[in-house]
Amino acid sequence: MKLSLRFLVPLILVLAVLTLASMPLVDQLTLRWFMKDLDLRASLIASTVEEPVQHLEADPDALRAYFARLILDERLFAIGYCAEGAVRPEGTSTLPATVRCAPIGEKANTSGRVVRDAHGPLLISAKPIHDAFGARASIVVVQDMSFAERRNEETRRYLFYFFVALGILISLITVVVAQLSWRGWVQGMRALLRGEGLLRPAGRTSVGELQPIADDLRALIRDLESEHRMRDDEQIAWTPKTLRDILERELRGSDVIVVSNREPFIHVRSADGSIVIQRPASGLVAAIEPIMRACSGTWIAHGSGSADREVVDAHDRVAAPGDEPGYALRRVWLAPEEEQGYYYGFANEGLWPLCHVAHVRPTFRSSDWEQYERANRRFADAVVAEARTSDPVVLVQDYHLALVPRMIRERLPDATIITFWHIPWPNPEAFAICPWRDELLDGLLGSSILGFHTQFHCNNFLDTVDRQLEARVDRETFGVSYRGERTLIKRYPISVEWPPASALAAPPVDACRAIIRARHGLPAEHALGIGIERMDYTKGLEERFRAVERMFELHPEWIGRFTFVQIAAPTRTSIEQYQAYENRVRALVGRINERFANRRAPAIVLLVAHHDADEVYEYYRSADLCFVSSLHDGMNLVAKEFVAARDDEAGVLLLSQFTGAARELPEALIVNPYDADQCAEALDLALGMSVRMQRARMRLMRALLQEFNVYRWAGRMLLDAASMRRRGRFIARGVTPLKFTRQSDPPARARVVGES
Ligand code: F6P
Repeated sequence: MKLSLRFLVPLILVLAVLTLASMPLVDQLTLRWFMKDLDLRASLIASTVEEPVQHLEADPDALRAYFARLILDERLFAIGYCAEGAVRPEGTSTLPATVRCAPIGEKANTSGRVVRDAHGPLLISAKPIHDAFGARASIVVVQDMSFAERRNEETRRYLFYFFVALGILISLITVVVAQLSWRGWVQGMRALLRGEGLLRPAGRTSVGELQPIADDLRALIRDLESEHRMRDDEQIAWTPKTLRDILERELRGSDVIVVSNREPFIHVRSADGSIVIQRPASGLVAAIEPIMRACSGTWIAHGSGSADREVVDAHDRVAAPGDEPGYALRRVWLAPEEEQGYYYGFANEGLWPLCHVAHVRPTFRSSDWEQYERANRRFADAVVAEARTSDPVVLVQDYHLALVPRMIRERLPDATIITFWHIPWPNPEAFAICPWRDELLDGLLGSSILGFHTQFHCNNFLDTVDRQLEARVDRETFGVSYRGERTLIKRYPISVEWPPASALAAPPVDACRAIIRARHGLPAEHALGIGIERMDYTKGLEERFRAVERMFELHPEWIGRFTFVQIAAPTRTSIEQYQAYENRVRALVGRINERFANRRAPAIVLLVAHHDADEVYEYYRSADLCFVSSLHDGMNLVAKEFVAARDDEAGVLLLSQFTGAARELPEALIVNPYDADQCAEALDLALGMSVRMQRARMRLMRALLQEFNVYRWAGRMLLDAASMRRRGRFIARGVTPLKFTRQSDPPARARVVGES
């Protein structure tokens, strides 16, 4: 209906204007025709009367009587005779008084002129009469023109009706044709987009000639929609559902495979013989677990638990525990010598100290390298085995698996491989220490995207590649082109889930304060500091405890009124450096506690044991402050977890300037862990901080976590991957984006294209 009106209204308007504009033209035209006819008639009358008039011209009465008979014709209004030299014609009484005799001659035979008097419009024509010597008199014929006006009027009316009828007819035809064409066009487009109809001749199943165009058109529309959706990720509320939508819409429901060394849950045989599930103390696990719950993919990890083999199915799979539909864990088994060489040796005695500025020398052994390669191959094999399509989205986690991206790429060239390096990346000089530096870089550059927590680490990586490999490093777009492939190097600061499930499940803050203080035999209003880490030399535990000691020296009023509780999960305990570190830490705690021995409370409580997430959250919520003193850390999720746990908006965070988190949480008290005096003053400041100030700082930090949660971290990577896939499709179709047409660009494979 709307469509019809859209055609009809303008059409009617055009016709109306045309009709009105044409009326004067029609008037003039018909008038000219009538005048011409009447003038001819006048000539005819003149020639008819010529002879009788010549006989009667001597007898004016007879002439008038003759003329009077003539004007019985209704259209002949008057007739007169102009003798040579006469001024006024001799004629009927109806002859208008204004009519005068014109000069006689050939030229006098002019066409008539119209005059208007009381009788209406009259046409006056003067026609010469000839004798042997030429024209010598003239006949004046006056004809009634009013009939012409009547006819004009009628013509106009008919014309009007004609145009109206014509307009209606044209409108109807137009509407019918428009409706039919529109429907046909829409159906045609739909069929085109479905690849049917016009494209596929009836009864044939083969793809029509226009099918490629339809596919391109369809892909283009989808891509435009996607680009539009993802243009501004600030408009998106980042939740598990957002991730699912991204997978569904942007990545066409691709299956997601996560591969990491550490598994998200460990089956352990307990002392009483039962199998219990343990959650490892791992920032990586804390971050990836909610992502996997949202995406329901497959998580491939090393089965390191004492009862892990007992619970898997024939394919080494076990479902994630919990009521909600979760994800599948596929366990990879490593022989003891593999675990020793790959995990303890190359990864944690080599790469871990190499990447952290924690003043522990890395140790590299060729036997460890061999096991590292072998173990990486096992993980890559598992990814290929778990992939249900040729182009899965694979999320490779951390420094244990640096060779895996290349190994997957070789077997699944169309896979989208997103590798995330959870620890810092050192400068090129430091990295050059590693004898297998080129192999590691080559392995990582099998990724489509390689992510770090900070821009600083991205820059270090680009510098390293620039120094080590024959590769093109594009610092404008943060891409590396290597072996005809392009890898995007990008910063994705990891975060925690929001709202944090463990915090929601924990008792109220007051209850947590009471529970924890009671557990450690501390008075109800005792000031409490908390630290929660693995027992790792990068965490700065010695520096932290020296700061506590210094605080007691500088502010002795806190002795017996403040206790620092340190949870240190045992980790990598077979490595000598870790054993030595634990011994040093224990000794230091013993010495400090002895020095500030107080009947009311110890200075430091050191708990070297595994704690589940729920217990950890109780500690976070019970504390007046949390001290994160890492000597070097990619991000440090403990800092973010503490903030997430404090829905009472109280508590103070002391945060090392050498963590990635310090860049995002400036409202914390940022400290240099090597500066004991500064840290001691920060501890004192935190303990004396007003509730108002605590709240103001905590609110800002919580707002940041709410906005930049872990779903956004993963979502941003998936969106970038989707964007790369789309560009890959363009290249595969031969539609090369302008930015890749530079001569210097190596031919990019369809799947790997750069980032703008
Ligand atoms: O920081 C790197 C990392 O993989 C973290 O993600 C995690 O917190 C920690 O190491 C776990 O170490 P491991 O798996 O050796 O216990």
